Amino acid sequence: MWEHRDIQLLNVPSAASSSGCAASVVAVEPSEQTPLHRVHCAGSVLAIAVSARHIYAGTQSGDIAVFSIETYDHITDLKGHSRCILSLVLSDDESLLLSSAGDAIVNVWSADTFERVHTIYSVFDVGDIFCVAYSSKLSTVYFGAQNTSIQWYDFRAKDKYPRPSIKSHPSKRSHRFFDSLGPGGSATPQPPSEQPGLSYNESDLIEIDPSSIVQYAHFGYVYCMLLIESSTREGEEVLVSGGGDGSIKLWEIDSTTSAIHPKESKSLSSGDCGVLCMATRAQFLYCGLTDGEISIWDLDSQTLIRSIRGHQDDVHTMTARDNFIWSGSASGHVRKWSQRFELLGRWKAHEGIILSSAIRTVKGKDIYLSGGNDDCVAAWDVSSQEDDTPSVHRTTEDEMHSALRTLVSFRTVANDPTFSEDCRQGASFLKSIFRQFGAQSFLIPTAENRNPIVFAKFTPPESTVETARQTILFYGHYDVISAGAEPDNNWITEPFELTGMNSYLYGRGVSDNKGPVLAAIFAAGELAQRNELTSNIVFLIEGEEEAGSRGFKDAVKRCKDFIGPIDWILLANSYWLDDDAPCVTYGLRGVVHASVEIESDKPDLHSGVDGSRESREPVIDMVNLLAKLTSDRGKVMIPGFHEPVRPVTPAEEAMYTAITKEFSERTFNSIVPLGQLQAHLMSRWRYPSLTIHRVNVSGPTNATVIPRSASAAISVRIVPDQKLSAVCDSLTEYLYSEFSNFNSPNRLRVSIDHASEWWLGDPENKAFRTLAKAVEEVWQKKPLFIREGGSIPAVRFLELEFGAAAAHLPCGQASDHAHLDNERIRVANLYKSKSIMKKVFQELPLDG
Ligand code: BES
Ligand code: MN
Repeated sequence: MWEHRDIQLLNVPSAASSSGCAASVVAVEPSEQTPLHRVHCAGSVLAIAVSARHIYAGTQSGDIAVFSIETYDHITDLKGHSRCILSLVLSDDESLLLSSAGDAIVNVWSADTFERVHTIYSVFDVGDIFCVAYSSKLSTVYFGAQNTSIQWYDFRAKDKYPRPSIKSHPSKRSHRFFDSLGPGGSATPQPPSEQPGLSYNESDLIEIDPSSIVQYAHFGYVYCMLLIESSTREGEEVLVSGGGDGSIKLWEIDSTTSAIHPKESKSLSSGDCGVLCMATRAQFLYCGLTDGEISIWDLDSQTLIRSIRGHQDDVHTMTARDNFIWSGSASGHVRKWSQRFELLGRWKAHEGIILSSAIRTVKGKDIYLSGGNDDCVAAWDVSSQEDDTPSVHRTTEDEMHSALRTLVSFRTVANDPTFSEDCRQGASFLKSIFRQFGAQSFLIPTAENRNPIVFAKFTPPESTVETARQTILFYGHYDVISAGAEPDNNWITEPFELTGMNSYLYGRGVSDNKGPVLAAIFAAGELAQRNELTSNIVFLIEGEEEAGSRGFKDAVKRCKDFIGPIDWILLANSYWLDDDAPCVTYGLRGVVHASVEIESDKPDLHSGVDGSRESREPVIDMVNLLAKLTSDRGKVMIPGFHEPVRPVTPAEEAMYTAITKEFSERTFNSIVPLGQLQAHLMSRWRYPSLTIHRVNVSGPTNATVIPRSASAAISVRIVPDQKLSAVCDSLTEYLYSEFSNFNSPNRLRVSIDHASEWWLGDPENKAFRTLAKAVEEVWQKKPLFIREGGSIPAVRFLELEFGAAAAHLPCGQASDHAHLDNERIRVANLYKSKSIMKKVFQELPLDG
């Protein structure tokens, strides 16, 4: 709807435009765009600056939120303004950040230490400071304010001026209105200002000298400002300012004193609309005005080239890079323009008003950032598609991110035949990634109606490896648990659309196990591309893990010769103990899934007609039978069940002590009270458990019918040294023998649907040593050695089949919500897991 209206509007020449030009529409990029990421801030985002490492978001609260440009992690909040931030700029070398705000102050921050190094203010009541510009060459700060002045401070001359006193700081001065004396001669009492970060060190204060002020620089607020290269005086800069009066002024700068001199001939008028924002590229100046107007000036000839109606509402931000210009407006839309101001694209970037934007090329990718009154910053990849060799510039992180986006979009739910085509496409997609990295790859069929295994092998070229070559096998899975059907699920994003939010990527399977699988593939792929592989790396990525790895064993056995000998097994399919401490996992429980069915030879009956003290109802039998499985306190009652459980050794105890110690150093976030932690973890990791998943009954389930049959699904998690087959047998036998004591005419059927072995690795072997070292190098923290209560059927099988030991790297955090709504993985965990696996792939085969 809006699209249609938009184009119409665009083609109507603006009444206010002096040249009468309308924007023309050429091939327009899609209006739907997915941001790379969105981060939430504490309030509207009125200003953005971006460096090679950080995104700075100036908010309404006066805080500047700092995020990592790579992982979007929230790093810190710079607290030094008591009112909304209005402008942020960086010095050329990105070592200084300058902020201006509604509190009449300009702060200068170190972009390395995040310390506030200076606070600059004027002795005049300047009101809001809307804009700042910084000349790195002259070490001079210029700012434009609500009282229509432009003021500056030259750091080169800082010894010339006496040190000001805190008393003259705007927050300490009395306000003509609010602080005037009331009846009786007393002023309204003010609470002391105790806001953190708002206390001042006198030595950091800078007061503007009255000689460094141009009063009435505009006949209106000074909204925006920037420095450009002078076209007449080589190597010198010109200050450009835009005002609420609709004029744009050029100011020549005296390079010795930093003073600015207006040149009346260089005042460009835009008409009635206020100039809200500006951007330059080459000799062109692009101005965003109130009422949707965009004017383009040639600064060399100082003429207005075009004026178009770019938006339907106020143009709040303007950004230029290479051959493109982006404008953002009050309706929340961003528009992308060519140099000739043809509309190239438009998209809705914010639910609300766009207030700020910035652009920067980071590791070969052009990132456009927009900030809005929906309290968020959105990051958009606007890298030019016209680039001849786009992939050369993209980092493996970018490639991995877009591969994950595609992989998540395949609904690879193993248990549901509706999705078998998605599974096949997901598998083919993985195969194509392997092949792009130069690995040999194909699909291994499993069983009929079962999903294939993706096989791949990276082989280093003969010349690069002298010693007998080892082989590492990476195991993972591309199938996922169902995301649930609406409206019963509570996903805050589309489960099969990768969504970046607040430093996490959301989507079904991102943590279990698609993200970690891609991290491993890209780790191996990157080594292969750089000729740094030291061993063969084989991948077996199956599509039936969540369904108990159906068909996996047979398929692997069939292909065993082809797969060849394996020295080490690596997997990455579990989570940290909490959200902060990196871990390595050396144990998993096994699992037995069983179905229990009890049926009578009668049909469903009416409970009023047929309910009697003589009838033996299947559901009552079921309830009584299930009750035999555990004591009233939940202890599993299967005979001989607990005896084989391995006793705790001192070495094992030490592992738990280390974990308890780690948590005792925390002041928050402990999972349970410290005194209970060891028992809590042991009961989940090294002791068995039993779960009743569901009990179903036949018939209409209303309160008048006796169901003719009942069924139940139960599972048992098993641990060292319980024997899988013994548990299956004793569970079945126990149920039959207890049931026979009931003397019921009903029939019982017990079946074992799935059984998988527990796994216990050797935390002292070379694989774990290499893994732990790599984790420590990448996270700068020694990992905790943990076990897990969950199960992965293939691990023990692969160890036995290939006679190789497995090591397990948990990539995700405890709060990843695997199998649940809103599954996610932190961007930093994904990228760092790739780095860890790269190190392991490289170092594990080496001697030592
Ligand atoms: N990644 C999990 C295994 C897991 C779960 C590890 C919890 C650590 C903690 C795996 O994908 C999974 O869901 N396994 C199933 C296996 C079952 C379907 C045979 C499980 O544990 O229930
Ligand atoms: Mn799982």
